[in-house]
Amino acid sequence: MNKELKHVAIIMDGNGRWAKKRLLPVSFGHNEGVKRIEDVIKVAINNNIEIVTLFAFSTENWKREEKEVKHLMKLVKKYYLEKRHFFQEEQICFNLIGSRKNIPEEIMTIFNNFMEETKDYKKLILNIAFNYGSRLEIVEAVNNIIESNLESVSEQQFSEFLYTKDQPDVDLLIRTSGEQRLSNFLLWQCAYAELFFTNTLWPDFKQTEFQNIIDQFYQRERRFGGR
Ligand code: IPE
Ligand code: IPE
Ligand code: MG
Repeated sequence: MNKELKHVAIIMDGNGRWAKKRLLPVSFGHNEGVKRIEDVIKVAINNNIEIVTLFAFSTENWKREEKEVKHLMKLVKKYYLEKRHFFQEEQICFNLIGSRKNIPEEIMTIFNNFMEETKDYKKLILNIAFNYGSRLEIVEAVNNIIESNLESVSEQQFSEFLYTKDQPDVDLLIRTSGEQRLSNFLLWQCAYAELFFTNTLWPDFKQTEFQNIIDQFYQRERRFGGR
């Protein structure tokens, strides 16, 4: 029985409702939500977790109002400028997972700089899922396999064509805000993940709650189809 917790993925949901409850514009919810990222990383490091994958912006989120989308792009820039030193201090490797198509050039440059600057850090990998959709990831993988002229691939080989190549599957998936769905997130990688849903809205997600979920994870029995 494998109980090791190497890879945690989080669907950071509920920013909009957090703001609306306070009669604030949605952008305030996103601003508050971004602050939780550092909290989560610290708990992950304390628990020797190797990889944290955060759902930040889906391929479907482009459907939102232009004002909200623009604000989220602005937050990416602000986050990079304010948090670069944190990544250096904590030795965190920043990794973008998502389709490279459709990401505005200015944002892509920021991501590229972030990845380049942190590529040798080994304490933790932070995957930011941005312009991410799991079905698109799988389709892009299939197209890349076709291009590479392979006749067939094994499951292992297939996973090397995903954005998460070289990384272990997700052990623990958390979604905040009470929604109990995957919303096109890591469909392949979560095949045997333990799922946790909490009603807490993402901006209210505390380190103690994350620690509590990690503790509960270790109480669960994972069987992977065996006895
Ligand atoms: C999640 O919060 C963050 C993003 C999708 C960028 P939402 O903005 O989806 O919050 P709710 O679901 O409207 O409360
Ligand atoms: C999923 O949340 C995407 C992110 C958290 C970035 P959504 O709020 O977009 O998902 P739905 O629309 O409720 O399924
Ligand atoms: Mg939502």
